[in-house]
Amino acid sequence: MTEQTAVTEQPVSKVILPDAQTVTSVKHWNDRLFSFRVTRPASLRFRSGEFVMIGLLGDPHPETGKQKPLLRAYSIASPAWDEELEFYSIKVQDGPLTSKLQHIQPGDQIILRPKPVGTLVHDALLPGKRLWLFATGTGIAPFASLIREPQTYEDYDQIILTHTTREVSELQYGKELVESVRTDELLSELMGEGFADKLVYYPTTTREESPKMGRITDLLKDGTVFKDLGIEGLSPETDRGMVCGSLPFNKDIMEILEGAGLREGANSEPAEFVVEKAFVG
Ligand code: A2P
Repeated sequence: MTEQTAVTEQPVSKVILPDAQTVTSVKHWNDRLFSFRVTRPASLRFRSGEFVMIGLLGDPHPETGKQKPLLRAYSIASPAWDEELEFYSIKVQDGPLTSKLQHIQPGDQIILRPKPVGTLVHDALLPGKRLWLFATGTGIAPFASLIREPQTYEDYDQIILTHTTREVSELQYGKELVESVRTDELLSELMGEGFADKLVYYPTTTREESPKMGRITDLLKDGTVFKDLGIEGLSPETDRGMVCGSLPFNKDIMEILEGAGLREGANSEPAEFVVEKAFVG
């Protein structure tokens, strides 16, 4: 379908959009963060960790009344086996898309272009023993998918999810997610009881008091993380990394990983770590 076929003046929620999917649930985590689930196109196959373009119709053109799709890249936060799709988003009050998207309700429609892509996938990493998932803010979304993916537990002895946010309330989505993985009966049935012992959750905050304060980059550099987790350090033989946050964060983590001898990989050339920026944030 072309963009033109989406032209209409009906309210967004009632329009039959191109590539439309229906919102099934919405959860607001604080005044800046929300997650939502939508129906999954029957034909959509993706690898846990990938992203798709999603959005809504933009405002009508002042003269023609035409509405063009307003799309942004969003990591799929649900695993590949889930029958619905989950997304985790920031709310930017003057953001063209998220100022509207934050108001979606169950039953509303969103646009979802079913072309998943991305580098935060198992295929882009060489085999290893320990998988580090480094996230800031909404950068936890692709890892929400990967820690619910059985292959993650098949491929690694230990999975360490680090999540750094400014405030404690921004950790809640990840905290509940990790709890849900630890008690997930389906995963437990598939992977065997105790699979979740492999998953280590390491949340930190930078601007509000919490049990572990500081940027993960600083806590890696001064050795705090390794001391806390009883790990010697990072090694290209055993450690693999996936990184998802702001550009400066990604750059700083890359320096640390490269400093330890790990190399950046890609789908076409797997290596020891992969990086993607958290798109809307
Ligand atoms: P800080 O509060 O010290 O800036 P943001 O909301 O700006 O995207 O940041 C999300 C979290 O990521 C914050 O806790 C922030 O810490 C942290 N952060 C931002 N930039 C970096 C960086 N270059 N290295 C490590 N952590 C960072």
